[in-house]
Amino acid sequence: MSKITAAITCVNGYVPETVLTNKELEQMVDTNDEWIRSRTGIVERRIQKETGKATSDMAVEAVKGLLEKRGLGADELDVVIFSTITGDLIFPATANILCDKIGAVNAWGFDLAAACSGFLFGLETGANFIESGHYKKVLVVGGDKMSSIIDYTDRNTCIIFGDGVGAVLLEPNTEGFGIMDRILKTDGSGREFLHQKAGGSLMPPTHETVEKRMHFVYQEGKTVYKFAVINMAEVSHQIMLRNGLTSDDVDWLVAHQANKRIIDATAERMGIGSEKVLINIDRYGNTTNGTLPLLLWDFEKKFKKGDDLILSTFGGGFTWGAIYIKWAYNS
Ligand code: COA
Repeated sequence: MSKITAAITCVNGYVPETVLTNKELEQMVDTNDEWIRSRTGIVERRIQKETGKATSDMAVEAVKGLLEKRGLGADELDVVIFSTITGDLIFPATANILCDKIGAVNAWGFDLAAACSGFLFGLETGANFIESGHYKKVLVVGGDKMSSIIDYTDRNTCIIFGDGVGAVLLEPNTEGFGIMDRILKTDGSGREFLHQKAGGSLMPPTHETVEKRMHFVYQEGKTVYKFAVINMAEVSHQIMLRNGLTSDDVDWLVAHQANKRIIDATAERMGIGSEKVLINIDRYGNTTNGTLPLLLWDFEKKFKKGDDLILSTFGGGFTWGAIYIKWAYNS
């Protein structure tokens, strides 16, 4: 019997309608459009404004569209993995809430927390479910309502992040397409440079934690940048070497959208030209777990069956990694 690989067979995404531009941020904090564009590549980001709406609501839109595209009922899904750091509630898992909202009555699911690397880790987890032969349809969702944990008085972080959710469907493939290889890493000693101080079991919420604005993203940008730029480039290069891929072989770099300069450095290390580098950071900012599936969604029409894609990321934790995919379909 041919080897079973896990192939992405459909992608979809959702970003909220409300746009937050650099110009608008100029009215909120001491920053300017030119600084944000030149230091990050971001021009605008989307924000989920409506009261009472959460991460799962963006996922519902993304997944409903995905099921429609693939011609599937929600009851045909076997497993739902939701990579997010801004779940609707501390518990239960947002995967469960999503299953309920879309009617995925035959699926079981769970959330996966690995900050900006969550989607990549989710993809690897889902791929193993498929490769085991036990499951045929695994949905991997990645996305965040970052605006719910961003301090819009802190210019170090509020200019970077946005809201959005993407989703992919994994199905078995026996023709040699799909997820070919992966290198995934964590280093928990990096947690001090990027985290949310309060709200967890270490520091449950109190009046004081709220007053001290400890429920927001805290980032030492310069240090995170240094680690990100080295590790994302290195792991992307490593996965090429390990699979005998030259820069000519790689068709697309699908890299986490945290900072355009980090993406450019990764492409340079891989020796690939900018025409192969997918970018949507200008429109969405950093959507954390959403960046990779939103890129796949935005650029799906460019991919051809057999294209070699390198997905790579770096995020809080620290967490980072790269996955090599042989694309399985023509749109
Ligand atoms: N507008 C204007 N000036 C700003 C600013 C803003 N929004 N934010 C910071 N500055 C200022 C700083 O105060 C500093 O001023 P100083 O030199 O007078 O002290 C100067 O700009 C440079 O700050 P620095 O933090 O060194 O900027 P940077 O070039 O490192 O860019 C980030 C900041 C956050 C964009 C960048 O560090 C980054 O992208 N970090 C990594 C993010 C990432 O990859 N995260 C991982 C996954 S989420």
